[in-house]
Amino acid sequence: MPTTQSRIRSSHGLAPEIREKVAQLLNQTLADTLDLISQTKQAHWNVKGPNFHQLHLLFDTLAEGLQNHLDTVAERITALGHYAQGTVRSAALVSSLEEYPAGILAGEEHLEALTARFSHYGNRVRQAIDTTAEWGDAATSDVYTAVSRDADQWLWFLEAHLQD
Ligand SMILES: [Fe+2]
Repeated sequence: MPTTQSRIRSSHGLAPEIREKVAQLLNQTLADTLDLISQTKQAHWNVKGPNFHQLHLLFDTLAEGLQNHLDTVAERITALGHYAQGTVRSAALVSSLEEYPAGILAGEEHLEALTARFSHYGNRVRQAIDTTAEWGDAATSDVYTAVSRDADQWLWFLEAHLQD
């Protein structure tokens, strides 16, 4: 996990040690989100098969949804007086996601790969709702709640293709 230790002066009322812990957790989420966006785009670009068009559009909708939360997560870190570690290289170093399977084409393969990753992502985010609430940062907990609600819906959108 990257250090968020910074020399940024902040008048924020939350205790510095709490802001440090929250910023570290948010930086982990930032890395996971960047990684998941790139993996979802990978599926958007490379999917083939009879459901190509529908899946191509679905995967882009999910990537855009993640992109919207990315900015909120990064700016919560800076609002807490810390440094957002948002480059692709720093994300790749610390992401908790497994690398996307190389060379897969079929719609079902992409759906399986993304379902596993969105499930993992959703679990981490759901955990972070409680963790940040326990640390006394209701505003960050609220950010995670909004991400969690979307993550649950995205998992449903993906998994519905694999269920019967
Ligand atoms: Fe596109």
